[in-house]
Amino acid sequence: MKGVPAVDGVSAWWRSAVLYQIYPRSFVDFDGDGVGDLAGVTAQLDYLVKLGVDAVWLSPIYSSPMVDFGYDVTDHCWIDPIFGTLDDFDQMLAGAHARGLRVVLDFVPNHTSDRHPWFEQSRASRTNLRRDWYVWAEPADDGGPPNNWLSCFARAGSAWTLDATTGQYYLHSYAVEQPDLNWANSAVREAMIGVLRFWLDRGVDGFRVDAIHRLIKDPTLAPNPPEVAQARTGLGEDAKLLRHIDQPGVHHVIRELRAALSDYEPERLLLGEVGVADPERWAAYYGHGDELMLTLNFAFWSQLWSAAAFHDVIATTTRLVPDGAWPVWALGNHDIMRLATRYDEDGRGPLRARVAAMMLLTLRGTPLLYYGDEIGMTNVAVPAPYAVDIDGRDGARTPMQWSPGPNAGFTTASTPWLPVPDARIKNDNVTDQQADLGSLWRLYHDLLTLRRSTPALAGGESLLLPTDGRVLAYCRAAAGDGVLVALNFDHNPHSVPLPADLTGGTILLSTDPRRQQRVCGDVVKLAADEGVIIKRR
Ligand code: GLC
Repeated sequence: MKGVPAVDGVSAWWRSAVLYQIYPRSFVDFDGDGVGDLAGVTAQLDYLVKLGVDAVWLSPIYSSPMVDFGYDVTDHCWIDPIFGTLDDFDQMLAGAHARGLRVVLDFVPNHTSDRHPWFEQSRASRTNLRRDWYVWAEPADDGGPPNNWLSCFARAGSAWTLDATTGQYYLHSYAVEQPDLNWANSAVREAMIGVLRFWLDRGVDGFRVDAIHRLIKDPTLAPNPPEVAQARTGLGEDAKLLRHIDQPGVHHVIRELRAALSDYEPERLLLGEVGVADPERWAAYYGHGDELMLTLNFAFWSQLWSAAAFHDVIATTTRLVPDGAWPVWALGNHDIMRLATRYDEDGRGPLRARVAAMMLLTLRGTPLLYYGDEIGMTNVAVPAPYAVDIDGRDGARTPMQWSPGPNAGFTTASTPWLPVPDARIKNDNVTDQQADLGSLWRLYHDLLTLRRSTPALAGGESLLLPTDGRVLAYCRAAAGDGVLVALNFDHNPHSVPLPADLTGGTILLSTDPRRQQRVCGDVVKLAADEGVIIKRR
């Protein structure tokens, strides 16, 4: 693999990398069955290089009945035939590495499919050797669920389902078909660490760990207190009162996962999905350099489009990420509404999506992009007969729009697994945007190029400036190199006074392709919805 340059003396590759999430069902359908696959990812590796990202995170590709589209695993060490074979995986990995791209897999430790052989054994009898691999409990006195814990998915209701054969309830933090593993059992931990080793030995560069904050539950199975009894996630205000999410014992488990990774050279990434609202408790998942390397931040992508709101969440995150640890910034993923839909909701866009791209790629930390956001894909209103997701997330998972051709060039099948609306393809597709110097794709490309060649952006220190509520601005600096990023969150133009060292500076990049003026005086005049990067004189 090509070497990754040290940034400010920090050489961990994942600090200077830009990550890109692929939802494999929707990236490229190589075999023409309407669903994306691994051969499709291999076919578009050059695209990723051209865009300028450094690593991909693949949502799950393992054997699965697909109740939750791969987040319900039946064999952690096998590729689901819909995505291909282990050979296809090895080819994809080799192809990525040959291009200097790294590959991060999704590790789903909290639960398996109910059709996983472990669960089939566990539910077979109360005395089965794997009984304790899952969380089983006696019914309440009235025969109902053992306590009031709720599943994350509203449709599932209670987090408990009665197993008629053995007369006990099993816990499922998500769908009924996704029983929770019992991570308090050391045999489970050992087996799942074996899964990590299987993929590490195959050469993967790390893992995004799914729902890591849920691994350990209150061992007494105490009910959630009444004020949070309706909470389905750890993202509500009083979530710290919950008994089935974000329990102290989880940190011990994460240290074990991290220790398993540390046996490998070069360094492998441990990136965690931590759905915990309380900022201090969220930051605790970094541990003391012995837990997560990057901790996904729900608070960041949950903000409304407001300079003040982003100022606050960036300030809080920066303050709480422990010394020596490193933030990760993401505005999109397969569980939430597309960023272009959230921010450019008035149909004038993509304007704010451009400013969001500049913010994402210039903050101090590792940016994580979601496939299709680089061409401004918006949420698709999937009509009821075509809706397939258990939790209403189809709209953000539709096929990548590669070209203006049939089904956006995603598949040769007549029907892709989720629809691609025709009107959308006309504007938002890779082929057309690559040819258009003013496109959003170009902006992503130019931002990625600039980031790579500008040490202050890739790894420099950051100073967040006070906000007037309309413009968010911060300085980035590394030895002898400094830039100011100023992002206008408002639909009106605004002038921003420049600090002395930036007076007379040059605008390296603007989100507005119409910008002519490149040299600043002692102020920079931002157009409506414009972001700029200014270099010191
Ligand atoms: C995570 C995944 C989501 C999945 C859930 C259960 O939140 O991102 O897609 O449904 O975990 O695995």
